[in-house]
Amino acid sequence: MQRDEAAREIERLRAELRHHNYRYYVLDDPELPDGEYDRIFHRLRELEGQFPDLVTPDSPTQRVGGEAMPAFASVRHEVPMLSLDNVFTREEFVDFDRRARERLGDLLGSGDDLFSAPQIIYCCEPKLDGLAISLVYEHGVLVRAATRGDGLTGEDITHNVRTIKSVPLRLQVDVPPALLEVRGEVVMPKVGFLRLNEEAAERGEKTFANPRNAAAGSLRQLDPRITARRPLDFYAYSAVRCEGFKPPPSQYELLQHLKGIGFRISGEIRRGEGCDFVQAFYADIQARRDSLPYEIDGVVIKVDSVRWQQELGFVSRAPRWATAFKFPAQEAVTVLQAVEFQVGRTGALTPVARLRPVAVGGVTVSNATLHNFDEIERMDVRIGDSVVIYRAGDVIPKLVRVLPDRRPEGTRPLQLPTQCPVCGSDIERPDDEAIARCSGGLFCPAQRKEAIKHFVSRRAMDIEGLGDKWIDQLVEHGLIKTIADLYCLRKEELVNMERMGDKLADNIINAIEKSKSTTLPRFLFALGIREVGESTALNISRYFGSLDAIVAASEEDLMQVPDVGPVAAESIATFVRQEHNQDVMRSLRARGVHWQDMEAQGAREQPLAGQTWVLTGSLASMSRDQAKEKLQKLGAKVSGSVSKKTHCVVAGEAAGSKLADAEKLGVRVIDETALLQVLASYGH
Ligand code: IVH
Repeated sequence: MQRDEAAREIERLRAELRHHNYRYYVLDDPELPDGEYDRIFHRLRELEGQFPDLVTPDSPTQRVGGEAMPAFASVRHEVPMLSLDNVFTREEFVDFDRRARERLGDLLGSGDDLFSAPQIIYCCEPKLDGLAISLVYEHGVLVRAATRGDGLTGEDITHNVRTIKSVPLRLQVDVPPALLEVRGEVVMPKVGFLRLNEEAAERGEKTFANPRNAAAGSLRQLDPRITARRPLDFYAYSAVRCEGFKPPPSQYELLQHLKGIGFRISGEIRRGEGCDFVQAFYADIQARRDSLPYEIDGVVIKVDSVRWQQELGFVSRAPRWATAFKFPAQEAVTVLQAVEFQVGRTGALTPVARLRPVAVGGVTVSNATLHNFDEIERMDVRIGDSVVIYRAGDVIPKLVRVLPDRRPEGTRPLQLPTQCPVCGSDIERPDDEAIARCSGGLFCPAQRKEAIKHFVSRRAMDIEGLGDKWIDQLVEHGLIKTIADLYCLRKEELVNMERMGDKLADNIINAIEKSKSTTLPRFLFALGIREVGESTALNISRYFGSLDAIVAASEEDLMQVPDVGPVAAESIATFVRQEHNQDVMRSLRARGVHWQDMEAQGAREQPLAGQTWVLTGSLASMSRDQAKEKLQKLGAKVSGSVSKKTHCVVAGEAAGSKLADAEKLGVRVIDETALLQVLASYGH
């Protein structure tokens, strides 16, 4: 293809992607199925790969750019980023409103009597609980993103913010303003936060206390690839420094304008008159707080007219024209009365704190999670301690902190139990792991229950109607011991259980029957092998094609699958080697569970499997990370040092000692052109 033809197609693809991004992230109204979006995206990436000089920083492919940053640069805010004063009650807000009206005086006009006294029109917004950031656009292109910092100086986090899909890299306008600074909040949606923490806990890593900390931690990453994997969103709430266009005369219209040019704004923004409107807005948002996708800690009430805002001005660090109207706190202090241990699917012990009941965020809390024993050791929490409890929405309350000053006399550090509280088996805790586990395996009823719950869950075998309480009973009555026993259940056995009706039993039997027809990835995921989540199960299934091939695979074979590392490979190999697991898999198939094998893609897509490559020096057409990713996609391992086992060294500009190593060891060395040829020959 000719260069200018490619340039035209690239522009067209980018415009199309921007349009769909806008529909998806701002309007929440996607037109395209995801697969089609991906297709356009890949086509763009392909063309940009062929014509690297046509890549621009605002291209939708460039959200995750180059390498990690050595440190954050500081950024001075041209217009300081202020904070807001708080009110907590209607009375306090009425006071705020009265002061504002007094100051506005003549501007507001005067009514004939008390009842016709003019009211202020307010723009009412949810107060998103995340981090304030500033985005600077020059001629429509995002050039800088910064944290609030102390309000005057923040940190340059452009490389990270670019990875947030709801931040437009370019404004959606035909004639962009010379300069525009948009401010708003970066938040982590609740769903994403829970998932992130679950994954961290599964890996035995530290979890975040709340979505705001998680968002902050994600933005303060030197490596944008980490940020890119975090579920972050951006909501715009103000604009300053508008050059080259006249901003609308009110906050409400400004927000609509921002929405029009590509920014996501909250769907909860309303405009209305006086204290009663504000009070009703506050009550409505508070009532719906738990069902909002992100956490909020109150609402923000702003005088709508920009003219009036200017008249009211600022006191010290906060505007007189806006205030936060906050919800009651979500943290409370209480006393830890006991710690009990629950046993999960993989035998992991989760400590649960039993608390003196305390009201947090409107409900009474008497239990809180402590995640794992490491967490207990880290906080050195003891029975009798005063502790801080955090509860957000419908999320499980969490014990976040100990107040050491209030510790009573004679407390002792908590001990990890040596025996499983459910089955009495030994507790094991490898030195390098945060998680302690019951060694009972499926002998432990707790693990059995959890394994079955996982097996029937929606993303696994999807057996509808067989809820947790039924599984608890089935295991307790000894009706099922393994997941394979599910397929021998008879209706007569089900109806014997407490509160099980005839109809319900029929439905469950039908659902079990229906689940027999499944897919290999679902089946593999349903087995509940440690480290094998949904996407790993899919990758493994695609690679090997059949269960027999997976069972036959060695750890080395398994490690060839994308995203399977040594830990997962070991866990899978250990699982399939065990006699009782093989029995269960055999019984499941004998009892009718079946699927269509897939075409094994392994070798075909991974022509470089088993080879170790080393990159040195800098490449002209792509970054080293990009080259690494491409090689890995083809199955190669990319290592940082040269050894006798190295298959090939790619030497770019200014290659250093690794090149010398390669020559010494007689390892093949190729240059960038040859690398590109290799990649191209496999369609990359
Ligand atoms: S306006 C001068 N609007 O609250 C006015 N702030 O305590 C500046 N926040 O640092 C802020 N949602 O991080 C505004 N709709 C909203 C907001 C909001 C959350 C945060 C923001 C700010 C803090 C002020």
